[in-house]
Amino acid sequence: MTIPLKTGAEIEAMRTACRLASEVLDVLTPFVKPGVTTLELDRIAHDHMTRVQGGVPATLGYQPPGYPPFPASICTSVNHQVCHGIPNERPLKNGDIVNIDVTVIKDGWHGDNSRMFVVGEGSIAARRLCQVTYEAMWKGIVKVRPGARLGDIGHAIQSFAEAAGYSVVREFCGHGVGRKFHEEPQVLHYGRPGTLEELKPGMIFTIEPMINMGRREIRELGDGWTIVTRDRSLSAQWEHTVLVTETGYEVLTLSAGSPPPPAFVQASAQPPAPVTV
Ligand code: MF3
Ligand code: CO
Ligand code: CO
Repeated sequence: MTIPLKTGAEIEAMRTACRLASEVLDVLTPFVKPGVTTLELDRIAHDHMTRVQGGVPATLGYQPPGYPPFPASICTSVNHQVCHGIPNERPLKNGDIVNIDVTVIKDGWHGDNSRMFVVGEGSIAARRLCQVTYEAMWKGIVKVRPGARLGDIGHAIQSFAEAAGYSVVREFCGHGVGRKFHEEPQVLHYGRPGTLEELKPGMIFTIEPMINMGRREIRELGDGWTIVTRDRSLSAQWEHTVLVTETGYEVLTLSAGSPPPPAFVQASAQPPAPVTV
């Protein structure tokens, strides 16, 4: 297994691509309301990435072996859709939950992130699923530091999600990201502490747990992309791109509209705030 280690200049380029990916979600946020279609959100995101950011939507035409080309510039996964949902003409309605996943290529580097949105007023159960999944992602992020292992991340996410009564999707995982959309390592969202690859400074990968309210089993729809829960229970996902630093981690996919980290996240693990005089 060879996990790319990014150099200083490469990390700087990734900071830019990742900030842009997060800013696309900021731009979409006010539009995620009852009545909007996911195709309208796709157009807004596409225009922003291409015209404002001078970037390229990584998902548009993306075609891993065995898949048809992905037909849109974002993924929109609604309710029991787990991931890779294709934007369409159906208006979102009050109470829906939707994951919007944005990957921007800027100067050849990929920034990958997603957030959950509750459309209008969601049920308490739906909001809890989104909140627990957000905290589960962060439970994984705070494990990131040199010397930790990938299994530490997976275990932290799995134990937290399962203690809340939910299940973790196994078939999809986080991934190394850089010049390539998906590269080594695979970042499982379940596992055992102390197992798998040791983290080293300069690694960049996503953490993007998919958490189901019901059973963990999934199936693929006939469009060749959309993944849904087999039992049609609700599913949530959040995603950040994370750098392993000398002392811990740096979340790269942050912008003005990023939700604040949960209270259990130590401020000290973040890069020191710039001192202004
Ligand atoms: N952005 C997704 C991820 O987090 C991948 C989407 S691939 C697509 O890895 F083709 F479905 F868009
Ligand atoms: Co990803
Ligand atoms: Co993504």
